[in-house]
Amino acid sequence: MITPNILPLVDRLAGRRVMIVGDVMLDHYTFGTVTRISPEAPVPVLQVSDEQYRLGGAGNVARNIVALGGQALIIGVIGSDQDGHVLTGLLKDAGVQTDLVQDDRRRTTRKTRIIAQNQQIVRVDREHTETLSKAVVGALLEKVAAHAQTHDIVVVSDYGKGVVTRALMDALRALTGPSRVRPRILVDPKPVNYDLYKDVDILTPNAKEASEGAGRSATGPDGPLPAAAELFKRLNCAQLLITLGAQGMALFEGPEKARLIPTFARKVFDVTGAGDTVIATLALALAAGADLLSAAVLANHAAGIVVAQVGAATASVEALREAINKNPDMHIEELRALA
Ligand SMILES: Nc1ncnc2c1ncn2[C@@H]1O[C@H](COP(=O)(O)OP(=O)(O)OP(=O)(O)O)[C@@H](O)[C@H]1O
Ligand SMILES: [Mg+2]
Repeated sequence: MITPNILPLVDRLAGRRVMIVGDVMLDHYTFGTVTRISPEAPVPVLQVSDEQYRLGGAGNVARNIVALGGQALIIGVIGSDQDGHVLTGLLKDAGVQTDLVQDDRRRTTRKTRIIAQNQQIVRVDREHTETLSKAVVGALLEKVAAHAQTHDIVVVSDYGKGVVTRALMDALRALTGPSRVRPRILVDPKPVNYDLYKDVDILTPNAKEASEGAGRSATGPDGPLPAAAELFKRLNCAQLLITLGAQGMALFEGPEKARLIPTFARKVFDVTGAGDTVIATLALALAAGADLLSAAVLANHAAGIVVAQVGAATASVEALREAINKNPDMHIEELRALA
């Protein structure tokens, strides 16, 4: 089929609003070199040369939206700690609007990656993933309701740290947005929480998450169709976008209407955060009034830009334009169930 002309869409992204609700995280990187083994235990000794803090989880989705000229508002939970302070500072610096709940009884989620000679040697997680208190959930719901009037598009970025609950999803489904209809709800799912996502608009699992939710493989000989059919049955969602790594993405506008959007051959440096780029770009394009296929093709270009960079990167409007001009046409294939 003919590739939609998405170049004009790129210019319409500026200033569009997206609300992101989910698990914000602080990504902490410790870089260094290892030259010897410790005398204390059979472990390497890292000589630290650099440390960096970056936005992770839902914060990375927000950062991707801002990089494309959009307005991102993020609602989530941090602790009353130094990491919460650092995280809030990073969000402000990135130009993300925040309305975060501070929970004295939790710590801010932080993932530390220790990297020696460009190789990750260990990851250290500091987090609380227990159920949030009633008071914190109530505060989250109030914030969501307060911003509903100005947002047509809501992204749920679920990393399983506790923000996404049945109460939150029920509240989102009951919202009325600026156009007097429910804002569109896009979910990047965490498999343990699948049952919370009933009746949402769009789900964006990767192949593994889709397979887990469906109870059957999304990468078997029949492709993603059988898994998608199960997910539609289980969730009653309106649309589904299964990301397939180097194979691109499969867009389902219903259980029977499926298309495969391919990627272009490129040098891949780091696929970290590609899923965040996909849902961020998709959401912003929809906020700009794009049709779903155009939004998905744009998201595929944006993800392609990001995987060619080191670290959880973002795509800019300029880079998107360049990528589209370079590959304006792609072979979008209709997927059909094998009889
Ligand atoms: N090797 C690759 N070459 C080109 N594009 C890629 C490659 N890997 C990923 N992508 C792009 O990124 C998108 C998302 O990738 P993927 O399915 O790996 O998501 P993900 O597993 O959620 O990523 P992550 O969890 O690391 O953020 C793909 O649909 C594709 O557009
Ligand atoms: Mg992902």
